[in-house]
Amino acid sequence: MKKGFVTAGILAIIACAVTAYCRASGRGNTPAGPVVSEQPVESVANASGGKSLVVYFSVPETDGTDASSGASRVRSDGKVMGNTQYVAALIREATGSDLFEIKTAHTYPGSHKALIDAAKVEIDGNARPQLATHIDNLKDYDVVFVGFPNWWYDMPMPLYTFFDEYDFGGKTVIPFCTHGGSRFSGAIKTIRELEPEATVLDGYAIARDRVPKSKDGVLKWLERIGMKK
Ligand SMILES: Cc1cc2nc3c(=O)[nH]c(=O)nc-3n(C[C@H](O)[C@H](O)[C@H](O)COP(=O)(O)O)c2cc1C
Repeated sequence: MKKGFVTAGILAIIACAVTAYCRASGRGNTPAGPVVSEQPVESVANASGGKSLVVYFSVPETDGTDASSGASRVRSDGKVMGNTQYVAALIREATGSDLFEIKTAHTYPGSHKALIDAAKVEIDGNARPQLATHIDNLKDYDVVFVGFPNWWYDMPMPLYTFFDEYDFGGKTVIPFCTHGGSRFSGAIKTIRELEPEATVLDGYAIARDRVPKSKDGVLKWLERIGMKK
């Protein structure tokens, strides 16, 4: 009897570990559909009289061919882009925003397994990776889209460095993310805590295997929140 409980316990632990790996690596998940912001349209429409900026962080992996096979890469107009980078380009085009890429001083590995491990080391160490790019004219923007991939159920650590560096008080922050099934995890709550004086919308999350066909959904979302030009 006791042996039966021990065996069941071990099996449960193994099942949890496998599920955690699949979710963290973004593989083996049932992709989730986009999360549509419930934010009233007026709150962004009021702010959008001024300039807007699309900020993104994206690490295109080198060992896959397309997003549906599990890689974080999209081919568009002959260019190979990361998933979040592709969505950022769509938003920039549809809103007439400026574009800014968060780049780190160090380079992340291109292969999936090595990237998973490197990101885990950073998250476990609560790291603040040094950034190589900086926004000089943040004061010019009323609305800032901020896009990132979900890494280990969280924002990648460079996003923490990013939010440490700037004060978004008085601005509207519109998060967007790409993911393998976990959507934003707790990132919206985290951004609101890091930027308490900003208006942070509920944002838009896109499962990575839907990224290549996400344009219509992105445009509809932008229209709904009053940001499509
Ligand atoms: C280091 C790492 C950790 C990840 N962790 C998660 C996760 O916890 N949950 C999830 O849904 N997807 C996870 N993924 C999948 C990515 O969020 C997904 O592939 C994303 O679209 C990559 O975007 P990018 O091409 O812009 O970098 C992870 C991917 C990597 C590389």
